[in-house]
Amino acid sequence: MNCKITGKKINPFMSFGKMPIANGFIEKKDFRDEFFFNMEVGFNEDISLFQLNDHPKPEKMFNKDYPFFTGSSEYMKKHFKEYANFVKNYLNSNSKIIEIGSNDGTFLKNFITQTNNVIGFEPSESVANVAKKSNVPTITKFFNKSNVKDLNKYLGQTDLICASNVICHVPNLNDLIETIDLLLSSNGTFVFEEPYLGSMFEKISYDQIYDEHIYMFSASSISKIFKRFDFELVDVFPQITHGGSMRYIVKRKGKINISSNVEKIIETEKKKDLDKINSCLNFKKNCENSKSKILKKLIDLKNLGNSICGYAATSKSTTILNYCNIDTQLIDYICDTTKEKIGKFSPGMHIPIVDMKHFYNNVTDYVYLFAWNHKEEILKKEKDYKGKWISHVEL
Ligand code: TYD
Repeated sequence: MNCKITGKKINPFMSFGKMPIANGFIEKKDFRDEFFFNMEVGFNEDISLFQLNDHPKPEKMFNKDYPFFTGSSEYMKKHFKEYANFVKNYLNSNSKIIEIGSNDGTFLKNFITQTNNVIGFEPSESVANVAKKSNVPTITKFFNKSNVKDLNKYLGQTDLICASNVICHVPNLNDLIETIDLLLSSNGTFVFEEPYLGSMFEKISYDQIYDEHIYMFSASSISKIFKRFDFELVDVFPQITHGGSMRYIVKRKGKINISSNVEKIIETEKKKDLDKINSCLNFKKNCENSKSKILKKLIDLKNLGNSICGYAATSKSTTILNYCNIDTQLIDYICDTTKEKIGKFSPGMHIPIVDMKHFYNNVTDYVYLFAWNHKEEILKKEKDYKGKWISHVEL
């Protein structure tokens, strides 16, 4: 893929093989027409950006069937409450707020009682409709220049633009930042959270890589990207969500002093080579080792007569299952709370997705925790479960 910011062709350094749509939970009748793409990753050294080499069109992923609901985790609901309190530092009583990728409205719900000046952009009808039912003003469209041009009240007058786990979904970062530029007031703030490259390398959580996650950002990449558009990364706040994320604060150039947090983290990233391809090559080796290790573990367990199920049909699990070629010979079923996934099959490997009742009635010897990032919430909830928990990351 040509990098939209530099125009440079990026050569992949690693392939994860043939991948389906990560959230493309599928019915049996559609198996034969399932869509696959070749999932390769590359690194743009000009802007220190880890990225997919190619990706399916956004409309293929974010549509009326999109089955990821932010509110499915109690912990994430709490997180978004805290996030909403945090961004109040950047608001006054009349501020206009826009969220990019507002999903089921979990975040914006925290503002609608205080102001009428709130809009969420959410292209996936399935989740946008849930937000609308909770009275969160939602535009069911992608956030881009052409879809904001008539928002007169917001053009140049938006004090806060927020996003969570969404900016890495946007292929055209040029258009994204130009759209932010159109909307943001002179002293406005863009606050967003994304899974963090450093955490993915550390945990070898390569399941963060899938069709929706076109980029895996670091402070170095964000700082370099926004500089090109006369914006500045002014602060960073590490988060524990999604196995390690970063909250980035971006403003127009020269508006406030850059926090020492930014310099510190960029120095740390330099020490770890996160701004260079060397760290990626090391990560590639680690992924290959991780694959061999988890496959051996699952095969050994099966050979000893154990039964294994999966817990939470996450998007991340699609990468694990397809890269490691894990199907129903190893994992009997995956349980999940999302009604839109239950009764369907996992993308690519076609493991049945079942409800929680099935999980309690069909106790397996081992449980593969695919939502390892929600470990605390899940292990607390399932403390009476008799099976042993496993995963490719440390639990
Ligand atoms: P998440 O890690 O946020 O998913 P993704 O990799 O797609 O970003 O987990 C969300 C999924 O996990 C969703 O399908 C619901 C499921 N889930 C459960 O089934 N039970 C739970 O207790 C939690 C927290 C999530």
